[in-house]
Amino acid sequence: MTTTSPTPARPAPIDMAHHAHLSGVFAPQRDEVDIDDLDIVGELPADLTGAYLRNGPNPRFDPIGSYVYPLDGDAMVHRLQLGDGKAHYRNRFVRTPMVVAEEAAGHAIWSGLTDGYTPPAAEVGPDLAGTFRQLPDINIVSHAGRLLAMAESDQPYRIDCTDLATIGRESFGGAMPAGTTAHPKIDPTTGELVIFNYVFEAPYLTWSVLGSDGLVRRPPTPVDGVDVPLMIHDMALTSRYVVLFLCPLVFDIEGMVSGGGLLQWQPDRGTRIALVPRDGGAIRWIDSVPMWVWHFANAFDNPDADSVTVDYVEWTYPGAFARESAPATSALVRAVLDPVRGTITRTTLGGGADVEFPRVDDRMLTRPHSRIATVGRSDGDVGGRESLWFHDLGTGSETCWRSDVAIGEPIYMPGADQDYWGAFGTDPADLTSYFYVLAADDPAAGPLATVRMPIRVPAGLHGTWLPAQ
Ligand SMILES: [Fe+2]
Repeated sequence: MTTTSPTPARPAPIDMAHHAHLSGVFAPQRDEVDIDDLDIVGELPADLTGAYLRNGPNPRFDPIGSYVYPLDGDAMVHRLQLGDGKAHYRNRFVRTPMVVAEEAAGHAIWSGLTDGYTPPAAEVGPDLAGTFRQLPDINIVSHAGRLLAMAESDQPYRIDCTDLATIGRESFGGAMPAGTTAHPKIDPTTGELVIFNYVFEAPYLTWSVLGSDGLVRRPPTPVDGVDVPLMIHDMALTSRYVVLFLCPLVFDIEGMVSGGGLLQWQPDRGTRIALVPRDGGAIRWIDSVPMWVWHFANAFDNPDADSVTVDYVEWTYPGAFARESAPATSALVRAVLDPVRGTITRTTLGGGADVEFPRVDDRMLTRPHSRIATVGRSDGDVGGRESLWFHDLGTGSETCWRSDVAIGEPIYMPGADQDYWGAFGTDPADLTSYFYVLAADDPAAGPLATVRMPIRVPAGLHGTWLPAQ
């Protein structure tokens, strides 16, 4: 007698209206549009010309099974083109094979990552059977003529700069089959793209380098001394070092298979910080207290000492990924790392409550920066994060602009005469979206221009500014 395994039933639809990350300002946007000459309150600066691109989770069809933000969802890229005082908008899904197959079916086929469910060959064919949804929805990066929609520890997708059409997966000539982090860093001095990637099997963590010409200069190279698979979301870069914070959030594949969680918070491990010399020298390790870091602002070598300064948002623990009773709290922190003594000195810079999404002028990456902007909550915020905080490292002062909407990651936009900060935001009351342009010299004064977006731009993740060529 022969037996066959029963085909697992397709997971049930999710109650989107009652899901915090599938409703309100997070509700998916299904329209793809090209709309010119948007309505503007105020005046766009005449010296500001370029495009702001932003990525974020945006399920193509109503999800089934589970939906964990920010792990799940398809990618939608939004582009706001600014110039001659006008604003133009285009948005497109990144068309992975999963999105294409679901569009043919007219409904969701793949479930959430944490379900462990994959569709059978009878439904999606042999090539896609048993695969998980590809998620190039975290970040968007432009390097060496490639516009890349970035996934967490997977291959990115290459996007056409002109029309945002999906070109295909990018393995960099086959050199990076395991993919890359969603948060590589570009060294503006050398033009290099420096990458790390974590995988579930030894060596668990690698780093690599693409030259300014887009060619692989260093193929994936193990970071020696890592003995468990860890989730590492972002990195920092100096002229000398790749800076990696190995916080104690451990992948537990066997635990997930047996019904436990995919990620285990193990604070007894503490945090290990790797300073990986970009010249290939021996790695310097620094031990610190348990912490969680989603995002770094920047890092640089201190010229008067063999030390490194790193600015980042430090969390007490990774929120829903840890079973802790107290609320997770965050602060913008400056750490000075001494690779010789193996020490770390941390100082809180500020950032209001619930601070996240730190950004600097990207031209200052690897070098001392004078400004950091973050998203946080201030006393007047009635919902989630409604405030942009601005930190002047020269004076040590901190100012805040409260948008009164759900505000997104700030972006630094250099103009020909002066510089600007920008951000998308959505009013939770009527779900109208806006793009705000603030003067970098006085952002707390409020927007110079407010662009009314023609459709809702869902709350999302990371973006990039592409100055006009
Ligand atoms: Fe991120």
